[in-house]
Amino acid sequence: MKLPRDFFKPLAIGAPAPLRELPVRLERMIHFVPPHMEKVRAKVPDLIAKVDVVLGNLEDAIPIEAKEAARRGFIEMAKASDFGSTGLWTRINALNSPWVLDDLFEIVREVGDKLDVVMLPKVEGPWDIHYLDQLLAQLEARHQVRKPILIHAILETAEGVKNVEAIAAASPRMHGMSLGPADLAASRAMKTTRVGGGHPDYRVLADATEAGSARASAQQDLWHYTVAKMVDACASAGIKPFYGPFGDFSDEAACEAQFRNAFLMGCAGAWSLHPTQIDIAKKVFSPDPGEVRFAKKILDAMPDGSGAVMIDGKMQDDATWKQAKVIVDLARIVAAKDPKLAAEYGL
Ligand code: GLV
Ligand code: MG
Repeated sequence: MKLPRDFFKPLAIGAPAPLRELPVRLERMIHFVPPHMEKVRAKVPDLIAKVDVVLGNLEDAIPIEAKEAARRGFIEMAKASDFGSTGLWTRINALNSPWVLDDLFEIVREVGDKLDVVMLPKVEGPWDIHYLDQLLAQLEARHQVRKPILIHAILETAEGVKNVEAIAAASPRMHGMSLGPADLAASRAMKTTRVGGGHPDYRVLADATEAGSARASAQQDLWHYTVAKMVDACASAGIKPFYGPFGDFSDEAACEAQFRNAFLMGCAGAWSLHPTQIDIAKKVFSPDPGEVRFAKKILDAMPDGSGAVMIDGKMQDDATWKQAKVIVDLARIVAAKDPKLAAEYGL
């Protein structure tokens, strides 16, 4: 365990000082683009206005023969646009792959000052974060990058889930974590071919009755345990948890339900892999206007956040004031970007 006084020291001479607090940013959807495709790169300027984060994917789903073109394409798209308040991220190849060193060397050299976050797949433990942390500091120093590039881990191996708390607290460079249900299912030998979401056979069945009436049965959430574990690890380390991909683009209702469960449990956003999922994530990860108005009533009724009051028949106290503040704080960040929602929130 590193000494507390060393935790915030730069890991290379000339690297920027690690951040003590995460930047406050709206990250309802991390939108994946395959940067080797010119047609897709051409749409990036339009995308910047529509999404909270644009991520150039270099890892899985990019064919092996396109790995270098994807890296070059990402550098080109990063240079070509001003991203403003929209995040610019990349998902690099895994640490055991033949591409990752060049991904990092070339991207930090060419666009290190524009890059907000590196997403690291297949993280098994804090040692993976320590390696990337050190390497990024060396590259930042070499290329005079002025602000630290943050790390976002994908939680997608059984060992990673076992070590999730240590991963979350491994470095001040940690931005957050995403559930990777496809790789995680494989790593755990779960018997599903789906990418995220439920499974029709994972359910509970009510007891049989003597009368033999039909037994109620309901599908359960396969990911509940992992999302809950990830949310606690992230919240306790002051970083952000995210739902990852939802692979069935034809089932928008199921995608919305899965994203909403993640939102209610504490997640800040999810991945969007298809244009329709951008709007789903925007809707789900922006707080509901009715909920925001009620939360504002609580804050207004308890200006110093203490005591007890009744609002619309419901008891409020110091704890519900904190719950209300979570919702209103998020609503303010959303409102700063979205005038229509700002009006609905009354902010
Ligand atoms: C994402 O990378 C996943 O494996 O689900
Ligand atoms: Mg994966």
